[in-house]
Amino acid sequence: MKVKMEEGEKDLKAVWMDDNKVKMIDQRFLPSELKFYTAGDYKDIHKAIKKMMVRGAPAIGVTAAYGMAQAIIQEKKIEKVAEHIKSARPTAYDLFNAVEFMLDHAEKPVKAAEDYASNVIEKCRKIGEHGSELIENEDRILTHCNAGALATVDYGTALAPIRIASERGKDIHVFVDETRPRLQGARLTAWELHNEGIPHSVIVDNASGHYMFRGEIDLVIVGTDRIVSNGDIANKIGTYEKAVVAKENDIPFYVAAPVTTYDSSTETGRDIPIENRDEKEIKMINNSLIAPKDSPARNPAFDVTPAEYISGFITEKGIFSPSELDDMF
Ligand code: MRU
Repeated sequence: MKVKMEEGEKDLKAVWMDDNKVKMIDQRFLPSELKFYTAGDYKDIHKAIKKMMVRGAPAIGVTAAYGMAQAIIQEKKIEKVAEHIKSARPTAYDLFNAVEFMLDHAEKPVKAAEDYASNVIEKCRKIGEHGSELIENEDRILTHCNAGALATVDYGTALAPIRIASERGKDIHVFVDETRPRLQGARLTAWELHNEGIPHSVIVDNASGHYMFRGEIDLVIVGTDRIVSNGDIANKIGTYEKAVVAKENDIPFYVAAPVTTYDSSTETGRDIPIENRDEKEIKMINNSLIAPKDSPARNPAFDVTPAEYISGFITEKGIFSPSELDDMF
């Protein structure tokens, strides 16, 4: 991904491996500071995923793959490491996929992890190629959370079609939900679009219905943490509402994801484990309370969007309807 820096524009990845260390952009500090975190062992990898220094399903998967490679080189007890890394977050299926992949490819761990990462990048590029066909000149596109390069190592899922449509000269505008409580839209998606010079506006989460009702949004594209067998998906809290309002207003609602996000062993969205996070994320902003200290808060990080609200899945293999998923994956 392009990043504007004082010394000029740089090409950065969200996470990479260097000299047996796993390095990543520490996303908690964006957009005000570009800081990096180095994970020296599997405990650091667990911390980086749990504390959301790195986040977004495919990027979590790649971080886990690098963490497994590092642990194998360090001759750690690999089954124990695998369980520890998998316990970092419960919803993103890529995490489990990546750890299992590394257990099956433990003989040449660094090469396996690098292959896993390059595969994710290449899949996202193809998602971009396929998805860009859905975007017309002058389209106004709504996206939720951050499903960009930061969430996938490079290109993104939901942002890949947007990047490629823009590179090909389509004049588009992206509406970016701020995405409470951790503001991945305002902080991260807007940062990526700004770096790429793609026109966009950040809106509060509550405003998307207003723009859809007024006919100011032509298309919705989101990413996902898990697609299950019946075509339901889990994605950042608030996605369900966007999908329902999009259907109500006849606006196409697409979900972009690589095959590593597909969990064929889970039947319906109701069976997806949903992460509940600390109530502080809701009640505190910049270390200040914004709700009474003693008021309890609830903070599910994801919700489920049933397949009936999804117009199609944009994958590395093409665009499919929910009923075609099983054959395609
Ligand atoms: O809690 P996060 O920031 O990890 O949630 C991320 C999302 O919900 C993304 O939309 C999803 O992981 C897809 S990333 C390509």
